[in-house]
Amino acid sequence: QDEKVALFIIFGGSGDLARRKLYPSLFRLYQKGYLQKHFAVIGTARRPWSNDYYQQIVFDSLASLNPDAEQAKEFASHFYYQSHDVTNTEHYVVLRELAQKLDTQYQLAGNRIFYMAMSPRFFGTIAGHLKSEDVLDDRGFNRLVIEKPFGHDFASAQVLNEDIRASFAENQIYRIDHYLGKEMVQNISAIRFGNNIIESLWNNRYIDNIQITLSEALGVEERGGYYENSGALRDMVQNHISQIATLLAMEPPVSFDAADIRSEKIKVLRSLHIGTPEEARQDFVRGQYGAATVAGEALDNYRDAAQVAPESKTETFVAGKMTFENYRWAGVPFYIRTGKRLAKKATRVDVVFKQLPMNIFQSVNKQDNLAENVLTIYIEPTEGFTLQLNAKRVGQGFATRPAALTFRHSSEAATNTPEAYERLLLDILNGDSTNFTHWDELAQTWRFADVIEKVWASEPAPDFPNYLSGSMGPACADELLARDGRHWVYDP
Ligand code: BG6
Repeated sequence: QDEKVALFIIFGGSGDLARRKLYPSLFRLYQKGYLQKHFAVIGTARRPWSNDYYQQIVFDSLASLNPDAEQAKEFASHFYYQSHDVTNTEHYVVLRELAQKLDTQYQLAGNRIFYMAMSPRFFGTIAGHLKSEDVLDDRGFNRLVIEKPFGHDFASAQVLNEDIRASFAENQIYRIDHYLGKEMVQNISAIRFGNNIIESLWNNRYIDNIQITLSEALGVEERGGYYENSGALRDMVQNHISQIATLLAMEPPVSFDAADIRSEKIKVLRSLHIGTPEEARQDFVRGQYGAATVAGEALDNYRDAAQVAPESKTETFVAGKMTFENYRWAGVPFYIRTGKRLAKKATRVDVVFKQLPMNIFQSVNKQDNLAENVLTIYIEPTEGFTLQLNAKRVGQGFATRPAALTFRHSSEAATNTPEAYERLLLDILNGDSTNFTHWDELAQTWRFADVIEKVWASEPAPDFPNYLSGSMGPACADELLARDGRHWVYDP
């Protein structure tokens, strides 16, 4: 492989994200030869760790990959720990000196990747100090990687953005939405722009509605502190769901490079309907999970989770209707839903095509019903897609039945599927910003989410908890579609 050369400085090097995602992903890049001799990682956090201790943490984080011990040790030897208080200017001087030393030792050509994997309230402070204390290196590239949440609403996101932009240019900033690193999310573009029979039908003349489901079986687990102030709309809709909807809705880009894709995403988001408060009330519903026994296991209420208020009004479920007001999509609802503690972990898109003008088979068989044509894109845990068509039922007489054309990745391909973070880290090393969120996209999706948040904050839900753990959410989510004469395709 063509070797990448860079110094990573990870803020939040002792944290959960670093251990669960970043170190294993960097290791996979190392195993594949993208990282070889010329890379080093500085992990920073407040606690006083030694390099040895940190390297052991990195080594341990690779356990699930069953690595060769020698190779894992060699990899971990590239990691250095620096105890760091993000508000202390002096500490950035120490960081700069360590960075320079490692740059010389590993011949890193001044290439630096600054990864913010910690509490967002420090993002602006860190970015400011990196510049003022000259931790940026003019000889190579300087790239800033930012984890979510990027703000709490439009206003706070804008302040954060201005803080960061004071030190980094837009093209140096990589805002992570890890859904954009998923194999099948990237495959949306291949399915659309690589198939005439799909792209020719990809508009309001042939598509009746599109359904995006991001269903999770897990509850809030240990993240009550964060989630209480976020809720499902900010946690999943403003970012992941909006990004998926954008990829489904955008016009074909002029080419498949980052700038062309970005401009189409921004353009289609300009047509995203920002509702009135009245529309938000009508088109978006929320829920919070309640206790239930599922497969013999007693699951608690959201309100019983650690760091969650006993009367919490935070939503753990959202369903709603997004619309894009443009030529291609006028009149086609994008129904979205996401929630915790639902029946299954399933991330999928169902594209429901319009019915034929009539069913001619009813002339010979009154009972015959033509099922809807549906294209389902399975994102996780299954990866693949299915096109649901109608065919003749075998036998005498004439009746139709649905028949599915199904594609699944082979299990071998599935194990080789790079984890989202691995793919995104390689993109960052390559300077490819295609699968990252641009500020203009974020600004628009915050404007969209803000209207709903505002209504919900001023009118707390009276009926929480309103769905049972292990169900597919509250009844109002089904009513939302029933009102339009439709139903959720995915109903496990
Ligand atoms: C994160 C959310 O962005 O995405 C979590 O903060 C959620 O609440 C997670 O569980 C889901 O990601 P994935 O990749 O497991 O579908």
